[in-house]
Amino acid sequence: MNNWILHYEGWKPEEQGLRESLCTLGNGIFATRGAAEEVPENKYNYPGTYMACGYNRAKSHIAGREIENEDLVNWPNWLYLTFKHEDGEWFDLENVEVIEYIQELNLKEGVLLRKMKFKDSKERVTSLISERVVSMNNPHVAGIRWTLLPENWSGDIIVRSAIDGRVKNNGVERYSELESRHTKVCEKGATEDHIIYLAACTLQSEINVAMTSALNVYKSEHMVEVDRKPVEEEDFIAEDIKIECEQLYPTTIEKTLTMYSSRDFAISDPMTEALSHLECLGSFNEVIRRSKEAWSSIWEKSDILIEDDSKSNHQMVLRMHIFHINQTVSRNSIGYDIGVPSRGWHGEAYRGHIFWDELYIYPYINLHNPQLARSLLLYRYRRLPEAKKEAKAAGYRGSMFPWQSGSNGREESQVIHLNPESGRWIPDNTHLQIHINAAIPFNVWLYFQSTRDLEFLSEYGAEIIFNTALFWASVARRNASSDRYEIHGIVGPDEYHTKYPGSEKPGLNNNAYTNFMATWVLTKAVELTGILSENILKELQMRVGFDKKDIESWKEISKKMYIPFNEKGVIMQFDGFEELDDLDWDKYRSEYGETIRLDRILEKENDSPNNYKACKQADVLMIFYLFSSDEIINILNHLGYEFKAEHIPENIDYYQEITSHGSTLSRVVHSWVYTRSERHKSWSKYIEALKLDFEDEQGGTTSEGIHLGAMATTVDMVMRSYSGMEMREEVLWFNPRLPDEINAISFNIRYRSHWINVRISHEKISINFRKGWAAPVEIFINGKKTTFKQDYHKEFSI
Ligand code: BGC
Repeated sequence: MNNWILHYEGWKPEEQGLRESLCTLGNGIFATRGAAEEVPENKYNYPGTYMACGYNRAKSHIAGREIENEDLVNWPNWLYLTFKHEDGEWFDLENVEVIEYIQELNLKEGVLLRKMKFKDSKERVTSLISERVVSMNNPHVAGIRWTLLPENWSGDIIVRSAIDGRVKNNGVERYSELESRHTKVCEKGATEDHIIYLAACTLQSEINVAMTSALNVYKSEHMVEVDRKPVEEEDFIAEDIKIECEQLYPTTIEKTLTMYSSRDFAISDPMTEALSHLECLGSFNEVIRRSKEAWSSIWEKSDILIEDDSKSNHQMVLRMHIFHINQTVSRNSIGYDIGVPSRGWHGEAYRGHIFWDELYIYPYINLHNPQLARSLLLYRYRRLPEAKKEAKAAGYRGSMFPWQSGSNGREESQVIHLNPESGRWIPDNTHLQIHINAAIPFNVWLYFQSTRDLEFLSEYGAEIIFNTALFWASVARRNASSDRYEIHGIVGPDEYHTKYPGSEKPGLNNNAYTNFMATWVLTKAVELTGILSENILKELQMRVGFDKKDIESWKEISKKMYIPFNEKGVIMQFDGFEELDDLDWDKYRSEYGETIRLDRILEKENDSPNNYKACKQADVLMIFYLFSSDEIINILNHLGYEFKAEHIPENIDYYQEITSHGSTLSRVVHSWVYTRSERHKSWSKYIEALKLDFEDEQGGTTSEGIHLGAMATTVDMVMRSYSGMEMREEVLWFNPRLPDEINAISFNIRYRSHWINVRISHEKISINFRKGWAAPVEIFINGKKTTFKQDYHKEFSI
């Protein structure tokens, strides 16, 4: 088992969607699915290319109404590279006898390899090796190298290399009734130097993308002259070249690409840049070498090792998750106006939108590339004006960030969605998840904890925290009879519950997670007023618009927020949750398995999960995932609730029984919260979470885009949960809780400008500070604080 290779064997068109998603290559600026280059979009092939935050809005007429959606745009297909014999058809694996097919994604080097051997109808056997790279070193560059070997024939072939602008957004079957055309081709052609070029522009957002490509042919490592002919069709530009092939002599064909967009910096116009950079690009070898070097520096910092005796593929899958995080956002993304999408730039599901999933992804980024984390947080900061506008329109103060965010921070959640089970379009009320307004300040705070970047906090972060505090204080309403603050008419993380049974009005009251998080935001805002210097605070008060009275009200609400509990001390998901009916879990689990999209199934049965104690995903348990038991107890005690560590297992068991894991974000949170009490259970849930995308556990959703939140949390599990790592009270804590099934874990983190290597086994923990110049930091292990500074290492027995 090679822990660096995602390996597939055999040509299985029905698996192609999944392989394409998982074999996507990207560099934090654009990504291209691992589709076959030799055929355009067809029933098994979807060669999507997406640009980070490259969105376009389009109107559709559906179910008797006009709706507008903002989509992540599928850009022209640059992969297009195919061949035919002079007397034959263009190559398609579906039209030949496939003798051998191997597809391998090399995670260490960022190279996609496809090895094929096939026989055509005239008994000609050909071997073809395809290597592909999307450069991590230069985010405007990509390439493909073909090595074609005629096994039993000689003769002429025509190779066609194209940039195909006839693409649409057709990647998600459920969206097929919606408008799918987002681009128009605005320029195309071939230069005298045999460079083909094509530029496309989005129809509404006016983003312009230019692609240019060159093709070279080599025999025995020497470039050869070939006959070339440009081919121009509507929205399509290609070059056909004729190559003489000789039996058992390989021919190498290299296609290189440059891609620039109007969102790039330091450019004149995209086409000028793309053309001029292509000219000085160098060979494919050079492109691949430099990209491999960039990957090697990423891995040096960000690899995470699980040492175990099993011959499992856990390590490979974990690396695949790290790989996809880095392909979605990387060093290249720094400075761009980019957020972290829930599904990567790997497909069109959820339209490339930015959700609260950031909450699951930031911890890894904070602790490996803090400059990137800072840049991504600015995506939110820049959208404060829109969030303020939304808050005002809804009658609140401060800022109200949208549940789904895209180009300008407007609410991009769909208003109706298709239930593929019933074929019905139904209202979508998930935008009522205002809890995202706690996730964003939480991310700011966590970034600050791992970096102590006071400049960021005072220039940007604090403004986000104060604005969201103002929002929460205006959303919370005092209940005079209980003298408690309550939040009504919203939806919590568990999207199965959006209204009360029988009610027409969407929204629920007092979602415990939301109320708890609102309390946390208000507490942090108060704490911040004590940390920031007087002049900065004064400036922020003016800019955000709050005064002493507001600070007093934040204190008051954070002492009196209401949290629903049942009689046994279990936190109730929302008011009235316990009165809901019990679901016949055996019936549904035996029919549909452990992971169920109950909302779709019940809607088809003219029923609704709103009627049952049945959760899509971790909701109350999110509290136990985000905070240590000490922090939870402190907050709840401060609110006047008696809550002890002993209550935690009961809470976990209660929700474990009634959760369908209809979201990939769920299982890994359950695994996380079990780390404290039942490590064996934690490990078995962890393994399930690790395989969610790899095995396409949700039956078809991975092909529409990876689940980045779930992937990142499996990485974070090793880094923070099994190591028991926490950052609080200005100290880095380790309290390891390794499951018996593994021997050790090791990883590097960037903490407060130090690079620290950590290795934890069942017996000891070793901490190794690399050279550097950052200020000393304190680490708490085994009940003792130790001060660490650069170049210092120490081992502790545990
Ligand atoms: C989950 C949300 C998540 C979204 C995007 C939904 O299925 O319920 O919590 O934010 O997917 O990943």
